[in-house]
Amino acid sequence: MDERYGVGIDIGSTCAKTVVVDGDGRILWRDLRPTGWSSVDTAGAIRRDLTEAVKDGALVRFVATGYGRVSVPFAHRCVTEISCHARGAAGQILLMKEYPMIYLDNAATTMTKPACVVRAVTEALTSLGNTSRGAHEGALNTNRLLYRTRKKLADFFGCPRSEQVVFTNNSTEALNIAICGTIHRGDHVITTVLEHNSVLRPLYRLEKERGVQLSFVQADRLGRINYSDFERLIQPNTRAIVCTHASNLTGNMLDIDRIGKIAAAHGLLFILDASQTAGATPVHMAKSGISLLCFTGHKSMMGPQGTGGLCINGDVEVDPFKVGGTGVQSYLTEQPREYPTRLEAGTLNGHGIAGLSAAVDFIAATGMDAIHAHEIALCRRFYEAVVSIPKVRVYGDFSSWNRCPVVALNIGETDSAVVCDALACDYGIATRAGAHCAPLMHRALGTEAQGAVRFSFGYFNTAEEVDAAIEAVRDIAGRN
Ligand SMILES: Cc1ncc(COP(=O)(O)O)c(C=O)c1O
Repeated sequence: MDERYGVGIDIGSTCAKTVVVDGDGRILWRDLRPTGWSSVDTAGAIRRDLTEAVKDGALVRFVATGYGRVSVPFAHRCVTEISCHARGAAGQILLMKEYPMIYLDNAATTMTKPACVVRAVTEALTSLGNTSRGAHEGALNTNRLLYRTRKKLADFFGCPRSEQVVFTNNSTEALNIAICGTIHRGDHVITTVLEHNSVLRPLYRLEKERGVQLSFVQADRLGRINYSDFERLIQPNTRAIVCTHASNLTGNMLDIDRIGKIAAAHGLLFILDASQTAGATPVHMAKSGISLLCFTGHKSMMGPQGTGGLCINGDVEVDPFKVGGTGVQSYLTEQPREYPTRLEAGTLNGHGIAGLSAAVDFIAATGMDAIHAHEIALCRRFYEAVVSIPKVRVYGDFSSWNRCPVVALNIGETDSAVVCDALACDYGIATRAGAHCAPLMHRALGTEAQGAVRFSFGYFNTAEEVDAAIEAVRDIAGRN
C-alpha cells in the first residue's frame, strides 16, 4: 500500500467494516463482519470521509458514521473512535478507543439494574403461574411473590395496609386510577405547575369530562413554589391536592410533610406522584399524610419497566379505572369491591414484580441514605463545574441539596435537542432534551421553545463519568 490509498476501519454496532480506497475515493476493497450489535449503515459516510482524508494526503484521521466528529453510537451503547494513518502504516490501526455509553438519563429510567433484579426476573420467567387462577405450585408461587412484595412495599412506603398496595404498570397508570377514581363531577383540585403530563392529562380530562375545576400553584424562575398558595386556593368544593414530590425537570423537591398537613387540616385527599423520588428518598405515607401514593418501578426503584403501584392509606374509596378478570368471584357482574382485586383487573406483571421485589431488597441492603448520598454527590460535582461555564444556564433551585439528582441546562440559544445529539453522538453521553412531559414547568422557566438538556444521575454512575460529561459540556459550549 502506498500513500495514494486510505484505509478506514469502523467498528459499528452491527458489524466491523474495513474499507480501502484509492486517491479518488473509489472503494477498492471492503470487508464486513458482524459484531453482534445493531446500528446504522455507515458505508456512505465512511466513503465520504475517506475521500476527504485521502485528498489531504492519505491521512485518515478518523472514520465516523456521519453523525459527528469521532462517534459511532452503537445501539446507544458504545462509541468507538478510530484513527488510522494509512501512509506508511499499511492500514494498521494506530489508535483505537472504545467508550461505553455514559448513561445520564436516569430520571427517564435507570438502565443499569442491580444483578439481583436481573436474576429475579430471569428466574420468575420460568417459575410463575397466574396468581389467583389456580391452586397448583406455579400459581401459588405467584400468590406468594405478590403477597411478600405487597408487604415489602407497604413497609417501604409506610402504607398501613399491605392489601392496599395495588400493582400497576407504572406511575401513569397509578395516577390515572387515583385521580379518576376519587375526583368526581363538580370537585375542585389543587395542583402545581411542576407536574408531569401523567398528572396533568388525567386532570385536564376530568376538567373536560366531569366539569372538575383546577387551580395551579405557580412557580418562580427557579421552579420554587409558595406553600401558602395551597391554602389560598382552597374553596368549598376542593377535593384533593395532587402534586409531584419532585420536578422531573429541575429536580426541586417539594416539602410533602407541609403539603400533607395542609391537606389534613382541610379534609382534602393528598395524592402524591412519587415517580422521581421513590427508591432514592424516603417517602412515608402515614407520617406525611399522603392519601394515595403513586410510584413507578423502573426509575430510582431500579426495578423493571412495566412495574409500579398505587398505595392507599386508610379508608379511601377508589373507583376501578378498568374492570375485568380477577380469577376470583367470577359470577359477579361487577368488579369485586375488596382491595387490591378491585383495582387489579387482568393478569399482573408477575415477572416484573419479581424484579421489583428484588430491587426493594437491594435498596434496603445498600441503604437509601447511601444511594441518595452517592447520587447527590455526583449531581453536585456536575452542577458546581458546569454552572460557571460561559454560555451555560442551569435551571432549578440549588440552594439546598435536599433534591433529586437532576441538572437541566441550556448552552447559549442552541436548541436543547442539538446539544443532546452532540452529547450522544460526539461523546457517547445519553441525556434527555426537549419538554420532558412537563409543559407548565418549562413555561415557568421560560424554556418552552428551547427545551432543556437534562442530566440525571443514578446509583451506578461514577465520578469519572460525571467528569467526562463536564468536559463535554465545556467543549460544546466552546464550539462557537
Ligand atoms: C414526575 C413524573 N411523574 C410521572 C412520570 C411517569 O412515569 P411512568 O412513565 O413510569 O408512568 C414520570 C416519568 O418520567 C415523572 O418524571
